[in-house]
Amino acid sequence: MISNVVTEGINGIPKIPGDKSISHRSIIIPSISNGVCEINNILKSDDVLRTLNALKSMGVNIQENKNKIIIQGKGLNSLNRANGEIYLGNSGTSARLLTGLLSSQKFKSILTGDKSLSSRPMQRIADPLSKMNAKIITTKGSLPLTIEGSNLKAVNFDLEIPSAQIKSGLLLAALNTKGQTNITENKVTRDHTEVMLQSFGANIEINKIGSKKNIKIIGQKELIGKNIDVPNDLSSSSFFIVSALINKNSKIILKNINNNPTRNGIILALKKMGAKINLTNNRINNNENICDIEVRSSELHGCELGPEFADLMIDEYPILSIAASFANSPSVFRGLKELRVKESDRLKLILLNLQNCGVNCKSENNDLFIFPSNKYQIKNNLIQTDFDHRIAMAFCIMGSKLGPLNIKDSDSINTSFPTFKNEFKNLGGNIF
Ligand code: S3P
Repeated sequence: MISNVVTEGINGIPKIPGDKSISHRSIIIPSISNGVCEINNILKSDDVLRTLNALKSMGVNIQENKNKIIIQGKGLNSLNRANGEIYLGNSGTSARLLTGLLSSQKFKSILTGDKSLSSRPMQRIADPLSKMNAKIITTKGSLPLTIEGSNLKAVNFDLEIPSAQIKSGLLLAALNTKGQTNITENKVTRDHTEVMLQSFGANIEINKIGSKKNIKIIGQKELIGKNIDVPNDLSSSSFFIVSALINKNSKIILKNINNNPTRNGIILALKKMGAKINLTNNRINNNENICDIEVRSSELHGCELGPEFADLMIDEYPILSIAASFANSPSVFRGLKELRVKESDRLKLILLNLQNCGVNCKSENNDLFIFPSNKYQIKNNLIQTDFDHRIAMAFCIMGSKLGPLNIKDSDSINTSFPTFKNEFKNLGGNIF
């Protein structure tokens, strides 16, 4: 795909798809609840369809109807063994959450994935689950992974790696485990799983102690089915937000966006950089904060973000780096270790591709430094993405300013935002 300069700014009201993290949970949790759940505005992207097909393959009745899916929950302990391996494509969220869910079911499962997912760390979920007596065999710490479902024991966890996927995998295992599991989080991670479990009537108690959080969950209480409206995805919105900020004469409005405080670091960071962003129409639905977001072209300044920002916006550093490249002073983003184990080594690809676009940048001890200039000379316009959707979309936005950039393997965008290209074109983006 080629991304080229935007001439008149970007303008309009793009249709942002449903939130990816909430969509995965809106399939898994209703599937193990009791009753019928209607899910509106679910994201129909490759990653979410992996979770949906996995649950269907375990006997859950899921009917699809335009923008809605209807799930007949089977209860906590009634999934069926899938007929063959469960293929999860590129989806880390499916892999970590399902590993937790399946380790307390009563059958054996084998999880596989594509090349990128098969190189990502799974020991980080297998190890804590094995403290609960889960029987999981990884392939050198990654997929393929065999889970011999069994009765687990409730234990206390003190989470060292800040990861919502690990926390959620453990919560899903604990749901079907007798006794009280305690999870202490030392750093903030997105809380969609706990929030949804509360609304489904799980026996769960959450206490915040400073920056720490303790979650107590008593297992084997059946969940009560609920309907869910999935809000639109802030991570997907962030590509258009930055494009509007860095291109003159732009104004966009994004509607019905999830503004969960465990995940809104990108808005806080961009505002710190002087972005003209207004959040309006704040409301709460299904226990999630939602708002509309108005964005106008802005003169951005550089900023320093400490590691605490990484907890609130880990997926947004690729696009934030593009914003920083057009600021009027340098930026440093600290504590980006987790960026190395995402769909690609994102820190490596941000540096490589920014440098190919002529941007002066470096990393030291997983801190990223960007020294912007008001004139860039592209050195190599072929953008390497390693099949990572967020790298691909971030450098499309870079192309909208510098153009033309040739984005390699841009099909990966379908993992989270299948309509990205059309929506960007409708706003005045120049992609072909
Ligand atoms: C996600 C959690 C994050 C995030 C990913 C989605 C989730 O991963 O990067 O895109 O839905 O729980 P980690 O748990 O590895 O931080």
